[in-house]
Amino acid sequence: MANDSEPFSEKLRVPEALTFDDVLLRPKESRVEPDEADTATRVSKNVELNVPVLTAAMDTVTESDMAIAMARQGGLGVLHRNMDTDEMATEIERVKRYDELIIRDVVTAHPEQTVREVDRMMDRKGVSGAPVVDDETGKVLGIISGTDIRPYLEVGESDAVTEAMTDEVITASEDVTPRAALELMYDHKIERVPIVDEENRLVGLITMGGVLKRREYDNAARDEDGHLRVGAAVGPFEVDRAAAAGEAGVDVLFIDCAHAHNANVIDSAREIKATVDADVVVGNIGTSEAAEAVVDFADGVKVGIGPGSICTTRVVTGAGMPQITAVSQVADVASQHDVPVIADGGIRYSGDAIKAIAAGADAVMLGSYFAGTDEAPGRVIQMNGKKYKQYRGMGSVGAMSEGGGERYLKEDDEDEDYVPEGVEAATPYKGSLASELHQLVGGMQSGMGYVGAETIPEFKQRSEFVRVSSAGHQESHPHDVMITDEAPNYSPDS
Ligand code: XMP
Repeated sequence: MANDSEPFSEKLRVPEALTFDDVLLRPKESRVEPDEADTATRVSKNVELNVPVLTAAMDTVTESDMAIAMARQGGLGVLHRNMDTDEMATEIERVKRYDELIIRDVVTAHPEQTVREVDRMMDRKGVSGAPVVDDETGKVLGIISGTDIRPYLEVGESDAVTEAMTDEVITASEDVTPRAALELMYDHKIERVPIVDEENRLVGLITMGGVLKRREYDNAARDEDGHLRVGAAVGPFEVDRAAAAGEAGVDVLFIDCAHAHNANVIDSAREIKATVDADVVVGNIGTSEAAEAVVDFADGVKVGIGPGSICTTRVVTGAGMPQITAVSQVADVASQHDVPVIADGGIRYSGDAIKAIAAGADAVMLGSYFAGTDEAPGRVIQMNGKKYKQYRGMGSVGAMSEGGGERYLKEDDEDEDYVPEGVEAATPYKGSLASELHQLVGGMQSGMGYVGAETIPEFKQRSEFVRVSSAGHQESHPHDVMITDEAPNYSPDS
């Protein structure tokens, strides 16, 4: 570094920093078939995922629909914070309740009702059966379904529901497993099991449809109570939002800052960590010194200073760190403290994602890759006969004017005279998240196969890079041909 005794020209003795296209994984002897590669990982100290992928906390990428779809597939959606605190709490609760094994908001019938009334009520509420509950005690007296009601409706509609209901009710307690609940239903040829406390008071309901639906997502990322996992972004100084998100049940909070290696941000992040029960991931950072500054309290660190597809940070501020080097520098420190690393931004292909893991990341976060899916909130736009979805940087003028400025340590500017660090853009419409994620994870598993690693930790140890020349890079992409049919996992425009 130049100082009184050092000439400025010393500054030009610069270290090299590399990114995705500068390196390739060195193929190694392998017995691992891609399908066998296990992608389970940790995103923070206490949160495991089956798929090492997160969707970005951006207002054109992750709201509750995306978070639900991601968690069902085994990954994690991180809700953006361009919404007020109450809205965020509602979004978190929606994800946590989705695919819930035990329905808490149960439609019930009451003993004084007639079969006709119950029939109408079930119709209105869209259910095909209901526990009959004593109004005063909350105890389950019976259970009634459309099949029980039908013969009564034929002859007289004013019979009391207690006449028609089944009063020998098969119930279970709250700790019943999905498997045990299903066995009960099969054994007794029933479709729903009321969940009761020790006093036989109704606390919930499990339906066969609900259990079977959850089975479709056997790779889902769930907490210890079986609820889907969800992440949420909070501004570096938003202690209140963090507390509200924690109360709503968020699994991982992400301190959302473009440059977290800032003493005020770190002080506030420490306070947030002390306030909430959820894991706290601190980001973004891009150097080993930044990692040193946060690893004593962070449950995870997120890496990326300017690699994102919509980012202009590097050209606007002149600062940044090419992503493969940034990830490896942070991982050198974080791995010594058992703190998971997330590589955030710049990933265009599955090959980039698995290179980030080889560089030391435990999971990857993507924005543009998923912004074109149905589950992303951006609107669909038609241009020249092709469909696109809106995708914008959280440091773009549009996103900042809706509250995203704090990420860039800037106050909300009433004159909207922002100095943006991102652009507003569009990305090709891609259909369902499940098929995009399938391509991404399938490509990553193939990468693990080329290196002969069965698990993510093994892959991180076993993988090696080779440096790629610009001729080598050209050779890596399809060349000397005209592509006639689009591949589901490759676009020359990426
Ligand atoms: P990709 O490349 O996946 O990147 O689209 C998503 C990540 O980019 C970051 N991000 C920004 N960075 N200006 C920036 O410098 C911005 O306006 C901006 N918006 C998002 C963020 O880390 C995200 O996950």
